[in-house]
Amino acid sequence: MRIILCGFGVVAQSFSNLLESRTHDLYSKFGLKPRIVGVFDSKGCAYDETGLDLKKLNKIKKQSGTVRAYDKSIRQISGKDIIENIDADVLIETTASNYKDAEPGMSHIISAMKKKMHVISVNKGPLALAFPSLMELATYNQVMLRFSGTVGGGTPILDYAKNSLRGERILSFQGILNGTTNYILTNMAEGMSFDDALKDAKSKGYVEADESLDLDGLDAAAKLVILANWIMGKKVTMPDIMKKGIRKVSVDDIKNAQKNGSAVKLIASCDKELELTVSPVEIKINDPLCVNGTLNAISFTSEHSGTQTIIGRGAGGIETASAILRDLIDIRKEITKS
Ligand SMILES: NC(=O)c1ccc[n+]([C@@H]2O[C@H](COP(=O)([O-])OP(=O)(O)OC[C@H]3O[C@@H](n4cnc5c(N)ncnc54)[C@H](OP(=O)(O)O)[C@@H]3O)[C@@H](O)[C@H]2O)c1
Repeated sequence: MRIILCGFGVVAQSFSNLLESRTHDLYSKFGLKPRIVGVFDSKGCAYDETGLDLKKLNKIKKQSGTVRAYDKSIRQISGKDIIENIDADVLIETTASNYKDAEPGMSHIISAMKKKMHVISVNKGPLALAFPSLMELATYNQVMLRFSGTVGGGTPILDYAKNSLRGERILSFQGILNGTTNYILTNMAEGMSFDDALKDAKSKGYVEADESLDLDGLDAAAKLVILANWIMGKKVTMPDIMKKGIRKVSVDDIKNAQKNGSAVKLIASCDKELELTVSPVEIKINDPLCVNGTLNAISFTSEHSGTQTIIGRGAGGIETASAILRDLIDIRKEITKS
């Protein structure tokens, strides 16, 4: 399977390491022989239709900060040219999420699908802004669009709701989908001010370069869009979500919640009327959803099987890379079925 990687940051490098370490069992268990034939970051590209040497690629990126230095003799072309001119089966989109115009990820995904490539995206931006139309484009071009890593990192939240609960009618769900705000609120519950808790989260590398994505609920809202479309069959995008972040949560709000045996959490919710909101909400301390630190959790309530909660790490390079691998295995299975 020939793969083009868009972006070569934390997640893509973890994915490349994962492929390297799993070469033999991926082939023996799943018949999967992945070959990365093209990769680009913000400064340049590397390509080789016979497959790039992943060890060398990772080393070069670490040493020089760009994949451009992989082979100085190759002609440098743009990411768009790589997608348009190199033959591949799957495009993996890992550039930064942005919720203004979703670029450059949006153009990568659209160009790849038009070239009949299957797409795996961990970039939430294009899905948050255009989930319904991207799905239509995938159907029109008869390709698969997968995005397991966008919600819950390595925790298989989308897969659980879609496949393990198949045949059930999910009536509502609510989740803690952003680990950074959960970490800040957990520290505030232990007595820190908002500013100190934010500073601490930044020092640990938990906060996005644009802190508004975490603090104003944009990241959680993007994940809610993906869940609402994929699980509930709604055709919604980011503007349809009512969102309020955590900037206005005060130490008093947290103390009042504690008096009621509750904690304040940033909850992304799809209620029984299918209203979609992201907002700080008091939830009982003994509710399984009430996880602390950077953990994510989501509770699905179904018609017959009641409420079930999944808890896990919602981010991390290797965790998210494992979600990409799951998608790749699924794509391989689907292709070999037909
Ligand atoms: N990290 C996680 O735990 C996690 C979990 C779930 C989902 N995600 C999502 O996965 C994506 C990747 O995350 P990450 O942590 O790997 O981010 P990252 O380390 O910042 O990597 C982003 C990559 O995109 C490249 N890039 C940026 N602008 C570009 C452009 N215009 N053209 C080509 N390449 C460009 C960067 O190039 P340079 O290397 O040259 O800067 C970098 O290689 C994001 O959308 C993120 O929201 C991340």
